[in-house]
Amino acid sequence: MTDLRPTLQDKALAHGKVILGGEHAVVYGCPAIAVSIPRALELRCERSETQQDLLLSVPAWGLERRLGPTPSTSEDRLDQALRAIFASARVAPWGHHIHGKTELPAGAGLGSSAALCVGLAKLALGPQASDQAIFELSMVGESVFHGDPSGIDSHLSVFGGVVRFTRGQKPEPVRLPGPLGLWIISSQTPRQSANLVAGVKARMEALPLLAKPTWALFEAQVQAMQEALLARAFKNLGLIMQMQHQLLAGLGVSTPQLDGLCTCAMQAGALGAKLTGAGGGGCVLLLPPPDADNKDFGSQLEAEMQTQMGKIYPHFPLEIQEQ
Ligand code: MEV
Repeated sequence: MTDLRPTLQDKALAHGKVILGGEHAVVYGCPAIAVSIPRALELRCERSETQQDLLLSVPAWGLERRLGPTPSTSEDRLDQALRAIFASARVAPWGHHIHGKTELPAGAGLGSSAALCVGLAKLALGPQASDQAIFELSMVGESVFHGDPSGIDSHLSVFGGVVRFTRGQKPEPVRLPGPLGLWIISSQTPRQSANLVAGVKARMEALPLLAKPTWALFEAQVQAMQEALLARAFKNLGLIMQMQHQLLAGLGVSTPQLDGLCTCAMQAGALGAKLTGAGGGGCVLLLPPPDADNKDFGSQLEAEMQTQMGKIYPHFPLEIQEQ
């Protein structure tokens, strides 16, 4: 790669995401609704006079990776994704230090891998690049991480907002008529999306009779979710989240810990709770009553987690603004 363009941009921002409904089904062409977590990752890039390698460090993820121009045979997904992105952009990244600052947990279903791929794509392509070009380049890296990504994570990471996303179609903005208050609980169990997506594929291939009605049910739930969001029908929204969690659990992507966190949320007074993203660990998304005071609801949630799960898992409110 040494004869390629040797310059990277010095700064890039990328959003994270939360899927409200339709994860996994979106891989099979069903719609999903997701919201972005604005500017969740910042990458800064400096030229290093002394090093010939590329150094990527994201201290919040405990990540420090050094990569040289000569590929090695024992490369993991991150190394392969980095090489694939820079090779596709025809950029030689050697002699740079990329430093990431983020509050997104890694491998937790909040779009950390897509945010990293989008940030790297922005550094590689420079300020003139279109959002579409950034999206496409980020998908080169996401394909390494996810195997068969639908594109929803990369889309949210580049374009932000609240969208109804269907693979291969133009995403539609979902215009919320007012703010939407959600909470996230992290199970602190990291996992690999690619394995979970492959597990769902294997289960559906084993039961081909069930695939069509299962995806149809996802699609109907996502449609009902969109209507509930637009009508601010929070009780229905919570009910649909409960149904989505059961459907995802049926696909084998929940865990006793995620089920337990959903139960804690409901006992604390939430209207609905579900896993979000690929599952298998990661995060739970919950909908508090619309009039709940954040401090009181947080205390109630903590008390339930302490009693039922023996510890308090990291949790935080997420306020989505009117769109
Ligand atoms: C991962 O954030 C969402 C999944 O639907 C996979 C994808 O859409 O690529 C599980």
